[in-house]
Amino acid sequence: MHLSHLRLRDFRNYGRLDADFTPGFHVLVGDNAQGKTNILEAIYLLATLRSFRGVGSAQMVRHGAKGYFAGGQVVAESTSEVKMYWSPAEKKLSLNGESVKRFTDYLGVLRVVVFCTEDLQLVKGTSRLRRRFIDLLLTQTHPFYLPLLQRYARAVRSRNAVLKQRKLDESLLESFSRELIQSGSRLMELRAELIPRLSPLTRLAYKKISNDAEDLRIEYQPSVKQDFAVELSKSRNRELTFRSTLVGPHRDEIQFYLNDQPASKFSSEGQKRSLVVALKMAQAEYLTGIHGVPPILLIDDVMGELDAKRRSGFLPLLNRVQQGRSQVFMTCTETNWPRELSGHLRLWTVERGALKEAPKMGSGKLDGTSK
Ligand SMILES: Nc1ncnc2c1ncn2[C@@H]1O[C@H](COP(=O)(O)OP(=O)(O)OP(=O)(O)O)[C@@H](O)[C@H]1O
Ligand SMILES: [Mg+2]
Repeated sequence: MHLSHLRLRDFRNYGRLDADFTPGFHVLVGDNAQGKTNILEAIYLLATLRSFRGVGSAQMVRHGAKGYFAGGQVVAESTSEVKMYWSPAEKKLSLNGESVKRFTDYLGVLRVVVFCTEDLQLVKGTSRLRRRFIDLLLTQTHPFYLPLLQRYARAVRSRNAVLKQRKLDESLLESFSRELIQSGSRLMELRAELIPRLSPLTRLAYKKISNDAEDLRIEYQPSVKQDFAVELSKSRNRELTFRSTLVGPHRDEIQFYLNDQPASKFSSEGQKRSLVVALKMAQAEYLTGIHGVPPILLIDDVMGELDAKRRSGFLPLLNRVQQGRSQVFMTCTETNWPRELSGHLRLWTVERGALKEAPKMGSGKLDGTSK
């Protein structure tokens, strides 16, 4: 799978961008604040319909413009043409010239895994971010997951609205509870299936990139321990105090352990960094296993932060992505690029919202000998 063309109009600091990309390794080099991450953000947007920076669409519209356009051509078993336009007044998404009615019909077109500095929040931040990570992976592997998640979220919202009413409507609450339990139970099943599959992949990736030999394990800690209906009714008094739904998969936790100690509490910064990289590598491996083709990797700044040992653990994954005719997009500045990375790569320079293919360097390889 690869993105053969990217087109942007009024997206962040890009007034106009048209670029053709071959399969393989693309390195975007430029000074700070030139627009490197913006390109990765646009590719991620085409894949997932959201920003990995956790911002809304309005922020991605170029200052002073009405709306942005992002589009591209994706080559997989067949070629797909994607077009997306967003303005506060109008939102359009089309696939091969036809307007997309349901997001689920669209979401498998482009699969990406992003590595970025914000990933650290997966260990340090709240459980919401970990759930979002798991939800994205399930969305990328089960076409019915997103509608299920949306159904569940609607049930939580409706139920909370009932709980906030001055006079409790018992029968309405009951009907939303049924919906909550039905969709929520399925969500928990799918999460409970995924984690034991992801955990060994993450453990293996962590071993490859970490200098230490700690054992990494991921554990799914569902909010519901045994019986959703029983636990929901037991929480009724507390629900009436807090006026919101307190039990269910919207309260699930995903815990990382290093040598059986919770990583959020006991691991060093370096260990946390290795952990999130391992998690993303595992996501890429898992997607490759399910779909038979590697996803596109978007690597923002991360390689520069890893030391040589950890980077070398990363290389087999990058090579597999190359061999699978997929793509890697990696950003770096002149000073932090990992020079030992070898293999054929294309170099692009990014300067004030313009992307230009740089002349081939020496052997066309990025290694210690070329400059
Ligand atoms: N909505 C927007 N409209 C216009 N320009 C924007 C918008 N959002 C961000 N920018 C500009 O984009 C630039 C930042 O782009 P980006 O984050 O891609 O930089 P970068 O090249 O990745 O830098 P770094 O190396 O520091 O990460 C800044 O100059 C910022 O002012
Ligand atoms: Mg950046």
